[in-house]
Amino acid sequence: MTDKRIIENSKVLVTGGAGFIGSNLVDRLLEQGNQVVCLDNFATGKRENLELALQNKDFTLIEGDIRNFEDCVKAVKGCDYVLHQAALGSVPRSIKDPMTSTDVNIGGFVKMLFAAKEEGVKRFVYAASSSTYGDSTIMPKVEHIIGNPLSPYAITKYANEIYAQNFTDTYGIETVGLRYFNVFGRRQDPNGAYAAVIPKFVMQLMAHESPVINGDGKFSRDFTYVENVIQANQLAAIVSYDKILEVGVGSKSVFNVAYGDRTDLNQLFNILKENLSKFDSEILNVDVIHGENRVGDIPHSLANIDKGRSILGYDPEYDIRLGLSEACKWYWENLK
Ligand SMILES: NC(=O)c1ccc[n+]([C@@H]2O[C@H](COP(=O)([O-])OP(=O)(O)OC[C@H]3O[C@@H](n4cnc5c(N)ncnc54)[C@H](O)[C@@H]3O)[C@@H](O)[C@H]2O)c1
Repeated sequence: MTDKRIIENSKVLVTGGAGFIGSNLVDRLLEQGNQVVCLDNFATGKRENLELALQNKDFTLIEGDIRNFEDCVKAVKGCDYVLHQAALGSVPRSIKDPMTSTDVNIGGFVKMLFAAKEEGVKRFVYAASSSTYGDSTIMPKVEHIIGNPLSPYAITKYANEIYAQNFTDTYGIETVGLRYFNVFGRRQDPNGAYAAVIPKFVMQLMAHESPVINGDGKFSRDFTYVENVIQANQLAAIVSYDKILEVGVGSKSVFNVAYGDRTDLNQLFNILKENLSKFDSEILNVDVIHGENRVGDIPHSLANIDKGRSILGYDPEYDIRLGLSEACKWYWENLK
C-alpha cells in the first residue's frame, strides 16, 4: 500500500459538491492543491456551501444534472478521480416519491459511471449507504452480509454497488463504494421535511424548542463525523487496487465508513444539550418529547470497520463526542 493518505496533484470531480458531504470534500481537495470540478443541480445543495471554493482559481462549478449524460461527460473531462456524492438522500423522501429517487440515484449513477469509464478516469469512488443492510439483524454490520432493503432509497444504493462491480468486471474501471453510516457535521442541512436528526435537534435546542424523538429513544446509530468520511474518500481513491481485489469474500470493493460505536437517541440528545449549553445555559432546561416510531426505521445500526482499516488504512479520528462538539460550535457560529 502507498504511504500517501491524501489526494494531491490531481483533477477530481465531486458530484453533489454543493451538498453537505460533497462541499466538505471540495474544500479539502482544494486546500490540498488539487483542481476540483463540482457537478450539481442544486436539488438539495446550496451555493453558499461553495462560497470558499468559488473564490479559488482551481475550482470549476458545472451546474448540471447527473441524469443528463452530456453534463456527466463535460464534468468528468480530464479528471483523474470521481468522488460521486450526487443523489437524493432520505428514506422518507424515497417512500413518498420513489420514481425521482430511482431516476437520480440509479439512472444518474449509471450515466456518471459510464461517462467516467468513457473518459478513462483512474477510479470512481461513490457514496453507498448503510441502508443496504436493510432488515439484517446481525451486529455489527460486516460488508458481505446484508439483508433485504427496507425502502426505495436502500434499493437504489444497493443497485449502485451491483452496477459498480459489474462495470469493474466488464470494462475494468476501478470502483470503490463507501457505505456511509449516519454522517453529521458542518453544513448538514437542518431544514426541510427530510432533515437528518442531528442538525434538526441542534436547531430546535438553539431555539429552546423540544425535539421529538421517534419511539422511546433506545434506537441507536453509528453516527459518523464528516472528517472521517473525507479521510475514507481520499484513501479509497488512492489505495492500490490490487489490495482491494485481493479480498476473498463478497462485496469486494465496498467498505463501511463509520466510527464503529453506537449511540442511542436519548444519549445523543444529552450530548447535544451538554455541548450547546456551553453557549447558552438555558438549553439545559429543554426537554425531549417522545413520539411514534417511524416507518422503515431499523432499531440499531453499528458498523464493523475492520475491512476499511486493513485494506484502505482507514482510521477514523473523530468519535461522536469530538465530532458533536465541532458540529455544535459550527451551528452556533453560523446558524444561530
Ligand atoms: N448524510 C448521510 O448520513 C449519508 C448516509 C449514507 C449515504 N449518504 C450519501 O452520501 C451522498 C451525499 O449525501 P449528503 O448527506 O451530502 O446529501 P446532500 O443532499 O447534502 O447532497 C447531495 C447533493 O447532490 C446534489 N444532487 C441531487 N440530485 C442531483 C442531480 N440529479 N444532479 C446533480 N446533482 C444532484 C444535491 O443538489 C446535493 O448538492 C449521497 O449519495 C447520499 O445518499 C449520505
